[in-house]
Amino acid sequence: MLSPAYCAKHSPRRPTCRSRWFQAVTNQMKEIPVSDPKTVKLLDGSSNRSSDLPLISGTLGPACIDIGTLYKDTGHFTYDPGYGSTASTKSAITYIDGDAGVLLYRGYPIEQLAEHSSFLEVAYLLLNGELPDKPQFDRFEHQITHHTMIHEAQRNFFHGFHYDAHPMAMLAASVASLSAFYHDDLDVDDPEDRKMAAVRLIAKMPTIAAACYRYSIGWPFRYPRNNLEYVDRFLHMMFEVPSEPLKLSPVATKALDLLFILHADHEQNASTSTVRLVGSTGANPYASIAAGITALWGPAHGGANEAVLKQLEEIGTPDKVASAVLRAKDKSDSFRLMGFGHRVYKNFDPRAKIIREMCHKVLAELGVNDPLLEVAMRLEEAALKDDYFVERKLYPNVDFYSGIIYKALNIPAEMFTVMFAIARTAGWIAHWIEQHETSGSRIGRPRQIYTGADVRDYVPAGRR
Ligand code: SDX
Repeated sequence: MLSPAYCAKHSPRRPTCRSRWFQAVTNQMKEIPVSDPKTVKLLDGSSNRSSDLPLISGTLGPACIDIGTLYKDTGHFTYDPGYGSTASTKSAITYIDGDAGVLLYRGYPIEQLAEHSSFLEVAYLLLNGELPDKPQFDRFEHQITHHTMIHEAQRNFFHGFHYDAHPMAMLAASVASLSAFYHDDLDVDDPEDRKMAAVRLIAKMPTIAAACYRYSIGWPFRYPRNNLEYVDRFLHMMFEVPSEPLKLSPVATKALDLLFILHADHEQNASTSTVRLVGSTGANPYASIAAGITALWGPAHGGANEAVLKQLEEIGTPDKVASAVLRAKDKSDSFRLMGFGHRVYKNFDPRAKIIREMCHKVLAELGVNDPLLEVAMRLEEAALKDDYFVERKLYPNVDFYSGIIYKALNIPAEMFTVMFAIARTAGWIAHWIEQHETSGSRIGRPRQIYTGADVRDYVPAGRR
């Protein structure tokens, strides 16, 4: 539970905190006495023009200066290339407090959802805003279970890929192609179409993901089994071989369901922002989610989990940890500790804490003794004691330990980001729906600071 002290400190609605903060901000920015605590007055010294910018607040988190009229009022843009101080939208789905290490899905702390919920229930929560009662959940689960198949023609796509194609390439292409097979849920302005697309995407991602894996190892595809629940159905499609029935492991099922919960959503991260930007053009849901998949692939984002495992394997043994930490601090070396640091969390990523505990439990229950776990723990210990990391508030993030669990579940490193994408599909499509439900949404179109050549006349080739 969030403590009353937390809420008092972070809820802008509580006057004590808010007026102190705004008073400080307004005074810092201007000598002019505060005229209205709900605005920030910006005075442009070069032109003496001023702009009264509204301050808007949400349920939790910092107030935001609404700069919508800034360019009209002052002729200036704002500049924030990594969007570190910029709220791109309003959203009711997920709240993160990076300093306090808090993560809420629709107001529920991630720790409580991890302990009590399931991925499918969390997907329902993200989509609908409330936890389902039993009839609601049963109907949702029935819908998902009966939309897990993909068109047989789509299965042929895979045979166009080289056998060693990266699964993320196959996943992105296959999800984008869904709009070639489903034309009855592409009206982005129709709530029923949006809901249908959400069900199809959440239902089919595991089927497509498993097909990517099976194709890459030359095994025949497996059809989804409706008598299995979501995660077991996925594990069956991944690992069942024609020659013998698959013995499902409850430990593996629980671990994977928990990893899916932890990866389901995370506010306006790079891939979710990509989905929203593509969605703002009116692109269909499959194209928008495919864009999110490609954004997630980068090693600075969801691709970090695959990079972490490769890095742990390169380090190899605990005695090499110290040199890895030295390299990560060396500015002349592009080497970074993958799975460390976060744009928002300047404290422990609450998901990393849960995954770290789960790591020990799952490996013990599966009887797996992975020396990389020892390397990871020593790396974490060394980094958290090192001033470079402490000063920059670099802590392990969600990707640091997840790969060790995936590996223990016999999931290959190339599939780690695919696992992330299966889970994040719930968050991506929830944000995509939210933006289409929000009246007045406009196409996203940032401006820039132009640093190119000044205007000049064309020079004929003979005179250059
Ligand atoms: C995810 O946004 C989300 O919510 C993402 C995510 C989600 O659920 O959607 O949480 C999932 O993407 C987690 C992050 C996975 N990525 C990695 O683990 C890759 C390694 N981490 C970094 O590349 C980095 O920390 C980022 C990309 C995560 C954050 O980058 P920022 O916020 O732009 O931070 P920065 O690059 O400005 O770093 C600040 C300082 C720099 O040093 P100085 O210039 O101040 O001297 O910290 C250093 C950086 O060099 N630094 C690192 C480091 N991360 C940052 N140094 C060594 N190793 C690292 N991992």
